[in-house]
Amino acid sequence: MKTIDDLQVAGKRVFVRADLNVPLDGTTITDDGRIRAVAPTIAKLVERGAQVIVASHLGRPKGAPDPAFSLAPAAARLGEILGQDVAFATDTVGESAASVTAGLADGQVAVLENLRFNAGETSKDDAERGAFADRLAALADLYVGDGFGAVHRKHASVYDLPKRLPHAAGDLIATEVGVLKKLTEDVKRPYAVALGGAKVSDKLAVIDQLIEKADRILVGGGMAYTFLKAKGHEVGISLLQEDQVPACLEYLARAEKRGVEFVLPVDVLVASEFPDLKTKAPAHPDTVAADAIPADKEGLDIGPKTRELYAAKLADAGTVFWNGPMGVFEHPDYAGGTQAVAQALLDSDAFTVVGGGDSAAAVRLLGFDENAFGHISTGGGASLEYLEGKTLPGLAALED
Ligand code: 3PG
Repeated sequence: MKTIDDLQVAGKRVFVRADLNVPLDGTTITDDGRIRAVAPTIAKLVERGAQVIVASHLGRPKGAPDPAFSLAPAAARLGEILGQDVAFATDTVGESAASVTAGLADGQVAVLENLRFNAGETSKDDAERGAFADRLAALADLYVGDGFGAVHRKHASVYDLPKRLPHAAGDLIATEVGVLKKLTEDVKRPYAVALGGAKVSDKLAVIDQLIEKADRILVGGGMAYTFLKAKGHEVGISLLQEDQVPACLEYLARAEKRGVEFVLPVDVLVASEFPDLKTKAPAHPDTVAADAIPADKEGLDIGPKTRELYAAKLADAGTVFWNGPMGVFEHPDYAGGTQAVAQALLDSDAFTVVGGGDSAAAVRLLGFDENAFGHISTGGGASLEYLEGKTLPGLAALED
């Protein structure tokens, strides 16, 4: 895979496919991690005298303009981070994009409006995607892929556009791939994995792979209750994917056969109802053993004994990969489990990788120093699919 150092960018129009898909509260960005992560690539291109055209998706609009998903706030934040004016085109391949990009001088930056405002971006039809990619290609001379969070998507700007322009990987993608390669090809043992998040179905494919590679798998979050159910325990009104119980049983059996420690919560925090995340009113949870969840209660975080147990299992690891919160971390009464796992990563001498999405947001929201972790990925789905061993369209296109 070529890097931007292999491209002659001075005086050229360089299309940077970034992932500026940041969480918004109205027009306020609540976590700018993804913008900060791609900014060094853009700054490098600016320094080398490129005319930089940045494009991204945000959210999942339905192939037509929708102001709720505008990239304007992200463009403004990028300008603040770069310390220079950033122009904004109010469309992707229309009049605004044409005039804004034509007006760029060397070292200047423009951001296009949300790529998913055009149906061609996400189309399953190769011709429709290709037609959109042709129009995007007309805006630029060179392509830099640096939207790691979207490389698992076979979308026009991710997959079809690099086939139409001389291309290279940006520094963020190069770093992300380097870290994930380390986890798959050159892992320092013991290799411990902490998995959380709501749905066990989202994690089955990665568990399938990790059973072959990891030494320990610790499970928390909403997905833990389907495993507890598989062990024959009452889970009350906790999140449960009943149809996934057979798959969980199979993984537990396979892990045992391979000598992989598969660790489930021994205690959990429970309450009669889901907490109010807006008011954050005190929830007064009870702590119960994981095999004694009352029938009318819901598990919302791992309990204190589990936190200690998981911290001990991470303490002597050589490598830790963590994806998914251990509980409803957005509420202070249920943040303790996620906080304990984050702290255990910091306390260990292991090479620590935080898979993107909610766990990366949790690290920042809970006030941890991002730089103290080995690596915090910007890609949730993308890093999981990489670890599942899948071919990622956005990376394959950059290899060609
Ligand atoms: C993400 O948030 O994981 C990436 O930006 C990809 O977004 P998507 O799941 O909507 O394709």
